[in-house]
Amino acid sequence: MALYKRSRFRDSGFRRVVPLVLLVVITVLVIIFMIRDGVDVESWSLSQEVGGGDHVELDTNFRPELPEKTDLATSLEKRNRLPPRNRDRFPNLARDHIKIVLYVHNRPQYLELVIRSLLNVEGIGETLLVVSHDGYFEEMDRIVQGIEFCQVKQIFAPYSPHLYPDSFPGVSPGDCWGKDDPDEKKCRGNADQYGNHRSPRIVSLKHHWWWMMNTVWDGLVETKGHSGHILFIEEDHFIYPNAYRNIQLLAKLKPSKCPDCYAVNLAPSDVKSKGEGWKSLIVEKIGNVGYTFNRTVWRKIHAKAKGFCSFDDYNWDITMWATVYPSLGSRVFSLRGPRTSAVHFGKCGLHQGNDKSTGCIDNGQLSFEIEEIDKRSNIVSDWPVYVYEKQTGYRAGFKGWGGWGDERDRQLCLSFAYMYHVAGASSD
Ligand SMILES: *[C@@H]1O[C@H](CO)[C@@H](O)[C@H](O)[C@H]1NC(C)=O
Repeated sequence: MALYKRSRFRDSGFRRVVPLVLLVVITVLVIIFMIRDGVDVESWSLSQEVGGGDHVELDTNFRPELPEKTDLATSLEKRNRLPPRNRDRFPNLARDHIKIVLYVHNRPQYLELVIRSLLNVEGIGETLLVVSHDGYFEEMDRIVQGIEFCQVKQIFAPYSPHLYPDSFPGVSPGDCWGKDDPDEKKCRGNADQYGNHRSPRIVSLKHHWWWMMNTVWDGLVETKGHSGHILFIEEDHFIYPNAYRNIQLLAKLKPSKCPDCYAVNLAPSDVKSKGEGWKSLIVEKIGNVGYTFNRTVWRKIHAKAKGFCSFDDYNWDITMWATVYPSLGSRVFSLRGPRTSAVHFGKCGLHQGNDKSTGCIDNGQLSFEIEEIDKRSNIVSDWPVYVYEKQTGYRAGFKGWGGWGDERDRQLCLSFAYMYHVAGASSD
């Protein structure tokens, strides 16, 4: 007991000294840093205002390091700078448009369905569609080049593991594999919390998502100045005709209907649900199908780059639920309608089974029909709001599924967060 008291007493005295010691240490470090490196004006502006009054919180001592690009990566990055297509047909974007970002890997049959669904979306011609590719796949490229219903901008993640056949972020010679012991095998890599080494195929999704977020909000000329919302969808999300009008209305209603909401969703967070069908708006945790938020929210997410990049889970969405959202300080809610405007589909008879409530495809056909009520905006502004207070699923405290233990992946991920804010870090 006495011991306990004494240690507490000493602890509180210690705590009073800590800020002073820290201040001295930081000041000395800053002076050493300035003398040694000279002052890099751009990196010092990190903590100041950038891009329309947004505050960027980053550690000024971190130096982003990006892998040397392969020829293919270099040529794709050039393509990233091309202006959007279809500007002759759609010369003006609507004033209050919500930009759409579709992120894809390599499922051409799925992508075709998604694009066919987008063709029927009311209002799609008012906005810009950005398609972000993880890797280069000819058929995926060809399908996107066939889009004629709105302005389209294609971007390719230049550091996708798929573009690096024999070097990081792909597999490089001497890398550990599986459960290799680095000392015994003399190989390179850090195992995850379950003892497994990195797999490029597995880490590529989280890298792509993070690269895309940083690029769309802070890098790309077509989107980095956008002050409104950006909607994110994936290559296996079927989009209903009313999706765009619904999301516009929800984004407009958000400040009054749910001031605490960070986002607006097209679909329930339970991907198997098509919604309650009630005459009310719904507030629940942010789902990973058809989510949209604005730059204010992006700045908050971006400020948590370190948490995002060091969490040992290869899933970007679980990483968000388990570390980023809980670290924002309050519960993170999203507003949506009572009927879904997007469905996540899979192959019939696989893990989702033949569950009638979700979409699945067979022979390139979707197994469900769009009803009349899903063809136009079906949200009523004066509906009340129902809140699911209890947030279920992954949350703070979850340790992660692993797959993200390699220091190189964490460093690359952090570099993505810095590359548009530090001089000379990116080739754009
Ligand atoms: C963006 O959304 C957040 C969360 O809903 C809100 O607090 C903020 O005011 C919005 N920012 C702008 C510029 O509309």
